[in-house]
Amino acid sequence: METLALERKAEQNRELRERLLKLKKERNAIILAHYYQRDEIQEVADFRGDSFLLAQKAAQTDADVIVFCGVHFMGESAKILAPNKTVLVPDERAGCPMADMVNPIGLRELKAKHPNAKVVTYINSSADVKAETDICCTSANAVKVVNSVDADEIIWCPDKNLGHYVSQFTDKKMIIWEGYCNTHDMLTVKDVVEMREKYPNAEFVVHPECRPEVVAMADFVGSTTGILKYCRESSHKEFIVGTEDGTGYQLRLDSPDKTFHFASKFLVCPNMKVNNLKKVVRALETMQPEIYVPEDVADKARQSLERMLLVK
Ligand code: 13P
Ligand code: SF4
Repeated sequence: METLALERKAEQNRELRERLLKLKKERNAIILAHYYQRDEIQEVADFRGDSFLLAQKAAQTDADVIVFCGVHFMGESAKILAPNKTVLVPDERAGCPMADMVNPIGLRELKAKHPNAKVVTYINSSADVKAETDICCTSANAVKVVNSVDADEIIWCPDKNLGHYVSQFTDKKMIIWEGYCNTHDMLTVKDVVEMREKYPNAEFVVHPECRPEVVAMADFVGSTTGILKYCRESSHKEFIVGTEDGTGYQLRLDSPDKTFHFASKFLVCPNMKVNNLKKVVRALETMQPEIYVPEDVADKARQSLERMLLVK
């Protein structure tokens, strides 16, 4: 961007931040932002976090309004855990293609084929699917959750890559749904080989939503929060990062003396990026788009989320 355009944008964002502060007080609202959101949103968030931390914050907040800067399933989880709050997602088009890869009818059919199995569902799923689920998990607690389940057989959905990763750390038989994250699944072995040649001193850190052959190349595998913690605490100074590029905001904030190279220019989730600061302000002005979950679905889905929050 040219200097003038950059200055204009900075001025606009200053004005938007002022309006937002005022609106937040008037509405008694909090802003939750996933680490994959644009920097301009992460900057104004009350809490930045991964799916797990943000679900916890939604369950605990005293605010009347939660502006959930993330994708639709995250807003739904917040509404399920805090049914008396108003939950807004700045742009209603912020969906998750992986969450759309599983539906309750297909899941019910699979359950009928495996009557002794318990269903563990990644939080990246719709409320309808969570309502058919025994216990949810996020990438931060997936192994612990699977091992906590009282059954030898697990139906796992929807992420086949995370499912494959978890299956290495459990004796349980896992029946794995064929879903995947369009963004993480795009990272290839060739991308990582090229990056390693370019940056031979860098460590490769990766999210388990990536393909198994890519995950197998990593120096460290972890959820978004796991990657952040590892990079913050490591004595290494340079990293090749195999997760969504919004994570760069927190990585650089935590470790300004370290260098982070994203492993591919395709590690950008277009769904996460449809939200922007202007839409956050508009959501609080208009109190739209609001997330609704039918009560009967929410009541069932809540059990699977609350069971997850209890796993230590
Ligand atoms: P986490 O927030 O659990 O790391 O999940 C990554 C993701 O893809 C969220 O949509
Ligand atoms: Fe869905 Fe992947 Fe985007 Fe997360 S990063 S919202 S899993 S498409």
